[in-house]
Amino acid sequence: MLTIGLFYGSSLGNTEAVATKIQQGLAEVVEVVLHDIVESTPETFELYDFLIMGIPTWDFGELQSDYEDQWEMLEQVDFSGKVIALFGLGDQFGYADYFLDAMGALHQLVISQGGITVSEWPVSGYDFEASKALTEDGQHFVGLALDEDQQFELTDERIAGWLELIKEDFGLQTTDLAIG
Ligand SMILES: Cc1cc2nc3c(=O)[nH]c(=O)nc-3n(C[C@H](O)[C@H](O)[C@H](O)COP(=O)(O)O)c2cc1C
Repeated sequence: MLTIGLFYGSSLGNTEAVATKIQQGLAEVVEVVLHDIVESTPETFELYDFLIMGIPTWDFGELQSDYEDQWEMLEQVDFSGKVIALFGLGDQFGYADYFLDAMGALHQLVISQGGITVSEWPVSGYDFEASKALTEDGQHFVGLALDEDQQFELTDERIAGWLELIKEDFGLQTTDLAIG
């Protein structure tokens, strides 16, 4: 049976809490195993063909500290053939010129090492100046964009919408079969 590996790093617990919500939101259709990036190795990534990776941005466009510590490890991971959905946390008003930059850096890393990213998320509904986490046309983020500092009330709805995309992009069966 398909299992998804969800990798996250989190300094204050926001990204970790979102990871748990995603795990619970997919529980009916697929098992999601959570891995703190700080305890992960290239072998941990080898266990999965489908990945979700969550990263907050810190210190003016920088990686969260556990991701920073593990970046060389991540450069050893063979992502080829793996399907990866990314989510990022940031603060669009407090750090408007660096919104979600770390998700952009992670996107670059996984695609340059053969990964296929899915489940991009539209930029509408956010207010920021610049982000390195945008697709080339600037119309989408490279993964789900969450802002627990300024728009926490939208988080659950955004996660729910994004999980519908993931189900489609990962080819997961839903239990909502038409009764007829
Ligand atoms: C000191 C500090 C620096 C931050 N820098 C950025 C930033 O450059 N870009 C951004 O989008 N968010 C930034 N944030 C917002 C965090 O990404 C946000 O609070 C996030 O939810 C933290 O997630 P965590 O609790 O999982 O670490 C910063 C927050 C703090 C406290």
